[in-house]
Order: sequence, then structure tokens, then C-alpha cells
Amino acid sequence: MSRSRIVVLISGSGTNLQAIIDQCHQKTGEIVAVISNRPEVAGLTRAEKAGIPAFCLDHKAYETREAFDQALMTMIDQHQPDLIVLAGFMRILTPAFVNHYQGKMLNIHPSLLPKFQGLHTHQRALEAGEKQHGVTVHFVTEELDGGPNIIQAIVPIDQTDTESSLSQKVQQQEHIIYPLAVKWFIERSLELRNNKPYLNGEPLPPTGYQINTCSSSKVSSNGI
Ligand code: GRF
Repeated sequence: MSRSRIVVLISGSGTNLQAIIDQCHQKTGEIVAVISNRPEVAGLTRAEKAGIPAFCLDHKAYETREAFDQALMTMIDQHQPDLIVLAGFMRILTPAFVNHYQGKMLNIHPSLLPKFQGLHTHQRALEAGEKQHGVTVHFVTEELDGGPNIIQAIVPIDQTDTESSLSQKVQQQEHIIYPLAVKWFIERSLELRNNKPYLNGEPLPPTGYQINTCSSSKVSSNGI
């Protein structure tokens, strides 16, 4: 099996990128490029340190969303990727962009989707009096934060939690479930068929595969 070529898109600190770099399964996948829409972000330095070609394509240099997305597609496609990973890539994508990478683009969102699409998810979960919160990795479709779920990690909300403490708990889980979803994809265990995600040939439930850190369920070494 040839190694999957992965392009990671970032906008900021790149802690998810780092988790994927650290856990990238060299036999099955290789990050061939990291692209940021913002200059001089920490994520670009992380890529350079890991010896991964790192590029900035500044969205401010483009007059329209369409023009930027077109330029980004051209840059991405030069690397002939099998998988596009959005890791804190803070852009709304055009339908043309999303459709171009249908079935091979993943995103991570810090909530238990479909709850709390959009921004400020931790604060909103606290204000809503939720007992649980978490993070979801999903395939990207035209609906913002709305594509089919692949995996979710659930974290408990404690009475003492603040936006910051909750965000830390969620980020810890992000760095576990994103590399795992990438591993499943590049090992060809995960695929999107007719807009439905399958893991090892079995359809995933609407929540995606769930890891509940409120209970004692653990992920085994093969990730299941
Ligand atoms: C993460 O919290 C992710 O859920 C959200 O953006 C943040 C990116 O953080 N989509 P980082 O750049 O990976 O550190």
C-alpha cells in the first residue's frame, strides 16, 4: 500500500498539527505540506522544525473568498494529497473548495456536534448548563461544522469549570482523537460512501465513534 499524502491547513498555534506530526504513522502516511492562511503563526514553525514544507497563503491578498479558495486549491493540489486535514483552519470554505475534496477532508470542532456549531463553544456549553461537552472530528461538507461525524470525545463539565479549564480538557482529547481519525483514514479503515462514514466496513452511528472520558472506556492500541 502506498503511503498517503497528507496536507494540513492551519491558522494558528498548531497544537493539533503537532499531535498529528508526533503520532503520524510513517509507514502509512506522510505530511507533505502545511499551509497557513496567516503569516508567522506558531504552527508554521512547528512544521519547519519537523522538516515539513510549510507555506503561507495570506487570505488578505485576495479580493474574494472564491479567489482565495481557488489559489489554495491550486497550492494544495501541487502536493497531490490523499487527505486534507483542517487543524484550526479558521476560514469559511466555498462550496467549490469543499466539493473538490469531498470524502477526503477532515475537520475538528470543539463541541459534541451537532451541538454548538460555530465559535465560543466552551462558553456556550457552560452557559447552557450542559453536564457534558467535548470535541468532534468530522468529514467536511458544505454545511459549516455539519459534515458526518467520525469520532467524538466526551468530557464532563464540573461545577468549578471555567471556559479556560474546559478548553484545556477538550484540547487534551483533541490531541488524541484527531491523530486517531487520521490513522484510520490513511490505513483505509475509514471512508465516506454516499455521504455516510464507515469504519472497518461498518456504518458509524450519527455521533461517530464515541470515547467517553466520564466513564472508564479506553481506546485500545488499534484504536477501537
Ligand atoms: C482547536 O481548538 C480546534 O478544535 C479548533 O481550533 C483550535 C485549533 O487549535 N477548530 P490548534 O491550532 O490546533 O492549537
